[in-house]
Amino acid sequence: ITARGPDGYNDRMSSPVPAVSEALRREVERRRTFAIISHPDAGKTTLTEKTLLYAGAIELAGAVKGRASQRHVVSDWMDIERERGISITSAALEFELHGRRVTLLDTPGHKDFSEDTYRTLLASDSVVMVIDAAKGIETQTRKLFEVARRRHLPMLTFVNKLDLPGRDPLDLLDEIERVLGVSAAPMNWPIGTGDRFKGVYDLRRNEVLFYERVPRSARRAPVVVTGADDPALIEHIGENAHRELLDAVHLLEAAGTRFDLDAYLQARQTPVYFGSALTNFGLESFLDALVQYAPCPQVREGEDGSPIDPLRADFSGFVFKIQANMNPRHRDRVAFVRVCSGVLTKDMQVVNTRLQQNVRLSRPSRFFGRDRETIEEAFPGDVVGLVNPGRFGIGDTLYAGEPVVYPPIPHFPAEHFGALRLQDVRFKQFDDGVRQLEEEGLMQVVFPVHGARYPILGVVGALQFDIIEARMREEYGVACRVEKLSYVAARWVQADGAARLTLPNNVLSTTDRSGRRVLLFPSEWDLQFCERENPNVQFLSMA
Ligand code: G4P
Repeated sequence: ITARGPDGYNDRMSSPVPAVSEALRREVERRRTFAIISHPDAGKTTLTEKTLLYAGAIELAGAVKGRASQRHVVSDWMDIERERGISITSAALEFELHGRRVTLLDTPGHKDFSEDTYRTLLASDSVVMVIDAAKGIETQTRKLFEVARRRHLPMLTFVNKLDLPGRDPLDLLDEIERVLGVSAAPMNWPIGTGDRFKGVYDLRRNEVLFYERVPRSARRAPVVVTGADDPALIEHIGENAHRELLDAVHLLEAAGTRFDLDAYLQARQTPVYFGSALTNFGLESFLDALVQYAPCPQVREGEDGSPIDPLRADFSGFVFKIQANMNPRHRDRVAFVRVCSGVLTKDMQVVNTRLQQNVRLSRPSRFFGRDRETIEEAFPGDVVGLVNPGRFGIGDTLYAGEPVVYPPIPHFPAEHFGALRLQDVRFKQFDDGVRQLEEEGLMQVVFPVHGARYPILGVVGALQFDIIEARMREEYGVACRVEKLSYVAARWVQADGAARLTLPNNVLSTTDRSGRRVLLFPSEWDLQFCERENPNVQFLSMA
């Protein structure tokens, strides 16, 4: 990714593209496609919801306390999500904000690291990290940050829950720098916390935004001051708070990191905003920054390393997510495509590179929670749902015109294994369900070589088992149970190696759907033993 001004499309990068249509350039420049990363409970759902409210994309706060029927935000649409209060599926929410077309890719918020989140980050151009002011950087945030860093995704940070007692803001900045290894530039500064929380001081504009409880949708006008030392401030926040603010501002002036747009775009610096999503405080300046500074769709690298420009006239994109039963009544499977270049138009013919087949995009749709609408065209940065009659897989490149191929989307090695046992006689539905959830990338499926051919599921996080059981029940009407197995790793064995293997008894031989041999190991030790005993055989951690 090359840094560039947020709106100024970098002409050096785009110069090889002949006759770029002005409309395409305009649409690319106004796109902002991002995802939120956070640890569960930091406030991602609340921030999402308030953002949508602010943008006018929804009219009612879904999570209004005490109103059970409206508790859930639009992206939370599956029953299991409601049961567990977690968001499992990554829907894309698109809305207009200050003349920009914003696409928020919703990442699952549960504790298990999920491949779904990883794939969502591949489809994003930048990220927002939400941190709970009382907790700082938590495990899940760190893991997701690592993924975002590998992709050099620019990151804005929102430190949330300022209305509750929290940690010293300097301490939080220090933790971001120390733990994540990225410099942290405060954009505003909290005045007091918890009960003594008075508001935030905008370090760049010399404005103070006072915290006061006002009706949900009301906006507060910031008060302009001449600086943190403006005596008028004392009147509002009291002497003690004013002294603390002055000390902090002087310290930041002397030793703090200053905002640098290029450093942000190159993912070396994260601008930090303090606020409170629930009370709608500090959101406005944060969202202003998001549309102003976050990058528009960038040049991406193809599989062979060649650049693919979003201004390339021909459409190209890749499938980053497949979701079965978006609408339980339609029983369809939707492949979500991130548009990366050119214009996708309804009914256009594209090539699926994996299948080397032409596919007509007959009903491209935009989804908003449970709702969908057919669209006529989509631009780079957009996420389009295609009804998937088994013709798309995760990672597939779709293109028109000159061939391009996006890099494959890697799988993570499964760490938990379980036998899926059918508890009634709905074999057909069972089989369909297993196939479709496998196609979504929810799990890997193998079958024992000897004895009964029941499916063994491999997942990255153990919570997936509950999700699989629940979805099989609710979406396919099948009662089944995952019986946990005590294997810890799976290895694919190269075809010519399988016959000559020396294996201990406790290693289970299985095959995947394409007939490749997969070994399941009960411990790391057994795996290493087998590798030593079979020096000429390659054990691959992924298919
Ligand atoms: P997540 O998606 O990151 O998991 O977090 P979510 O938004 O669901 O927020 C977790 C809890 O933190 C929720 O409370 C939410 O209301 C609360 N919260 C979010 N932002 C703020 C904030 O700025 N200030 C305060 N005080 N609380 C905040 P809950 O009790 O778990 O759920 P609910 O009963 O409010 O729905």
